[in-house]
Amino acid sequence: MITLALSKGRIFDETLPLLAAAGIEVLEDPEKSRKLILPTNQPDVRVVLVRATDVPTYVQYGGADLGVTGKDTLIEHGAQGLYQPLDLQIAKCRVSVAVRNDFDYQQAVRQGARLRVATKYTSIARDFFATKGVHVDMIKLYGSMELAPLTGLADAIVDLVSTGNTLKANHLVEVERIMDISSHLVVNQAALKLKQAPLKRIIDVFAQAIQQD
Ligand code: PRP
Repeated sequence: MITLALSKGRIFDETLPLLAAAGIEVLEDPEKSRKLILPTNQPDVRVVLVRATDVPTYVQYGGADLGVTGKDTLIEHGAQGLYQPLDLQIAKCRVSVAVRNDFDYQQAVRQGARLRVATKYTSIARDFFATKGVHVDMIKLYGSMELAPLTGLADAIVDLVSTGNTLKANHLVEVERIMDISSHLVVNQAALKLKQAPLKRIIDVFAQAIQQD
């Protein structure tokens, strides 16, 4: 049995065409079903639905043989023990710094002000501001980062930006682009040895499908 860990939403939706290229069709719609293990048309392949931040953990400890996860999640997780053969070029977005549109970020940085930064991405944010030489107090949040500058909890947020619509709707502006993000295929290293043929086949088909795009 091959177990693939995916998270619901964009990553699931954008992985489906890659699975189709490998002849794998997921037989239930995660938006309609409450099931967490989804069968496929291949009796020896199944999909497990996990939180995006849990995908690396499932693959690391062998709860899944392989998974699809954002570069942001991989960096925050540390990605120990994970084989990362492919950048799948899906679910593209970026990690950026954003502030209220009436906050003068450049001036605060020039003046050497200590910034309060709210984010789910504490490793990425810490590295970025350390490299820039900006002192920050980090506030860890688990969601709705956009609220932090609006309520006075923080001066800035570090969050994913895709269309920019969420920032705009909340009167925030993007002031720094930290890194581009896309989703990667990650594979459990022991599984790669024990289930070499079927896993290698999936990796090869995914690699070809990406090149054709
Ligand atoms: C992300 C991010 C923003 C939004 C940005 O949230 O946290 O809130 O997408 O997208 P946009 O620039 O196209 O408006 P996501 O929907 O991934 O869920 P999350 O809040 O659980 O991270």
